Amino acid sequence: MGMPTSNTSNESFLQPFPFLDLKAQYRTIKTEIDAAIQRVMESQQFILGPEVESLEKELAAYTQAHLAIACASGSDALLLALMALEVGPGDDVVTTPFTFVATAGAIARLGARPIFIDIDPNTYNLDPRKFAAAVTSKTKAIIPVHLFGMSADMDSLMEIAKARGIPVIEDAAQAIGARYKGHPAGGFGVCGCFSFFPSKNLGGAGDGGMLTTGEAEFADRLRVLRNHGGHSKYECEVIGMNSRLDALQAAILRVKLRYLDKWTDGRQKNAARYSELFKRRGLDRVITLPRVQEGCSHIYNQYVIRAPRRDELKEQLRRSGVPSEIYYPIPLHLQRAFAYLGYKLGALPESEAASREVLALPIFPEMTAEQQDLVVDSIRSFYHH
Ligand SMILES: Cc1ncc(COP(=O)(O)O)c(C=O)c1O
Repeated sequence: MGMPTSNTSNESFLQPFPFLDLKAQYRTIKTEIDAAIQRVMESQQFILGPEVESLEKELAAYTQAHLAIACASGSDALLLALMALEVGPGDDVVTTPFTFVATAGAIARLGARPIFIDIDPNTYNLDPRKFAAAVTSKTKAIIPVHLFGMSADMDSLMEIAKARGIPVIEDAAQAIGARYKGHPAGGFGVCGCFSFFPSKNLGGAGDGGMLTTGEAEFADRLRVLRNHGGHSKYECEVIGMNSRLDALQAAILRVKLRYLDKWTDGRQKNAARYSELFKRRGLDRVITLPRVQEGCSHIYNQYVIRAPRRDELKEQLRRSGVPSEIYYPIPLHLQRAFAYLGYKLGALPESEAASREVLALPIFPEMTAEQQDLVVDSIRSFYHH
């Protein structure tokens, strides 16, 4: 990343900064993290065990779920949830094309068919009206995604799903701690799937994931499936997999969980400040700011704007030392891996338009006011020069 080159006010004082500054985060909790790692090393217990069990309890409490089951990644959490529902060939699973590939990948890996329906352009989440129209006798489940850290419209989705007897798996990978009408994301359907990928609000030092559920029998099935399909070591009841969380990850995540609310608060404050700065400069008439749906609390895993001439803007920001990302540049129904499903360009216009226009700006909690000013000033100089 080069040094800033254009002539906005703050640039010359600032070092280039990353999209997400995990080193800055580590500096604030280094002593505790290092002690947690040391504790696991002394124990030499690396797979599942007491650290993982403690994290499961703490996470169940945090998400107000009855039970939590740790696994190896958010992708595996989705896969395990679908396996527990016995989803397989001949089944359809409805989801959004405007998400990370893992959401639909889990469906396809089990031989089931992802059915993509379009998003609400205001929230980037599944449009419940389109869900109602997409249900058939083959619909085995629906996976709404709480994209960028804001819950999907769960009242409407749950009403339709309940009426048709369709289980709901919530992809809450980006939404730990987000709320919908006061209730935590992940707690509406049969289970919630979380990711501890390092860039998530609660990120590990590697891969990790978690499922939450209110149903003891479902939790038991998940525990068996994540551990080679058996309750005991050499007895195999069903075909399972190896998807366990490491004790080292659990110990690190337990430290970070204690700071999660503070970090989320930092992200929310940064989001509010962005919106205020953009409005003050009249930029809210040029770009579309994130909209928080009524009744939702947004945890801002990403702060995503819609921007005219998005690719040119991104390039100019890069030249000014401002990092940005595109989530997601190709909707899943147009990805080569899903070409066999037969979707054509134009099939899901809202998702396609969003893919052309969205831009995620840095929002990490340790971001300084100067860094944020640089982002806003650079966007202003792009549109107003
Ligand atoms: C919406 C969504 N679903 C699923 C995943 C998969 O999680 P993981 O990377 O932990 O496998 C991610 C994150 O990467 C995600 O953002």
